[in-house]
Amino acid sequence: MTPVQDAARVPSPDVYRAAALPDAVRVYEVGPRDGLQAEPHIVPTETKIEFCRSLVAAGVTNLELTSFVSPRWVPQLADAEDVMTQVNLPESVRRIVLAPNARGLDRALRSGASEIAVFVSATETFAQKNLGTSVAASLAMAETVVAGSTSAGVPTRGYVSMCFGDPWEGSVDPVRVADVAERLIQMGVGSLSLGDTIGVATPAHIHAVLDAVVERGIAVERIALHLHDTYGQALTNVYAGLTAGVAEFDSSAGGLGRCPYARGATGNLATEDLVWMLDGLGIETGIDLHALSDVSVWLAEQMGRPNTSAVVRALSAARADAIQNNSTLSPTH
Ligand code: HMG
Ligand code: MG
Repeated sequence: MTPVQDAARVPSPDVYRAAALPDAVRVYEVGPRDGLQAEPHIVPTETKIEFCRSLVAAGVTNLELTSFVSPRWVPQLADAEDVMTQVNLPESVRRIVLAPNARGLDRALRSGASEIAVFVSATETFAQKNLGTSVAASLAMAETVVAGSTSAGVPTRGYVSMCFGDPWEGSVDPVRVADVAERLIQMGVGSLSLGDTIGVATPAHIHAVLDAVVERGIAVERIALHLHDTYGQALTNVYAGLTAGVAEFDSSAGGLGRCPYARGATGNLATEDLVWMLDGLGIETGIDLHALSDVSVWLAEQMGRPNTSAVVRALSAARADAIQNNSTLSPTH
């Protein structure tokens, strides 16, 4: 993509540090995977590759690129091999992919993934909808993937979906989340990502689930939060996570994405909204907010849809305003 010419200084938040928050966090970008997996139209492989490269150019270093799932289930990501083998990212970038089973792991390892994410659900209904099987059987599938990946020397991350509510089953007891999280840790995943797949969590709920998981002896440093913004709570929930010691947050450039098998799920937390807040808190992410926003504007144009990130919309409006004012003023200068 061609960077948008910076015709004006675009706004940034003033920095106010809050006591007891980390100095740096990892922003875990899921846009190319979670962002594109439910798109009604299949995005061309070249666009996906350019998206990944542009994200890295904007400072993203934790990048989930695609999924090695069944193309019958997720045709949008059937080009996973092509994306991985052609994208050519620096080795320093964490290049994570999803693999649900041994077949997926084999494809992923052949394609040069540097980390494998397995995904299971805290609830039975979503395990059936998303993986076609029970929680217990999907944990057994994940165990095969984690064992294979570990013996190949490739680290793993374990997602738990529906940690805060399920569209079919309703409330989810934090104890059920902790049970699944503990099993993933026992089988050897390096880190966990707790998913609010349908975006229903509120801040004290975040603490309750984190407490239940940490009570099993799992260090909070190994836990990430994967928040969806369905009810506009994602950033508040990030802040709750920060105060509990979480230092990795999943997000999607421009707020794209959702799980195609989760009824009622809408967009992920937008990376720009997350980075604006972290920048304002003086928390280092390594990401250039304005470069990232340009990437999301470009991608939204490619996909012919409006941007759902409040920060991208505000930055775009400020830029348009500045350009208009400049051109109005320029003849008198
Ligand atoms: P199944 O239909 O029960 O399994 O699917 P199967 O073994 O009968 O396979 C069906 C077909 O897929 C067969 O092909 C297999 O060979 C093939 P056919 O013989 O019919 O031509 N197949 C594969 N092909 C390529 N790669 C593979 C693979 N596996 C099977 N790895 C399965 C079971 C697990 C495969 C399926 O349920 C699946 O792929 N599910 C993935 C669904 C998915 O990707 N969901 C979105 C990701 S999770 C998410 O978004 C949530 C998250 O963001 C966190 C949050 O928000 O909570 C992570
Ligand atoms: Mg998700």
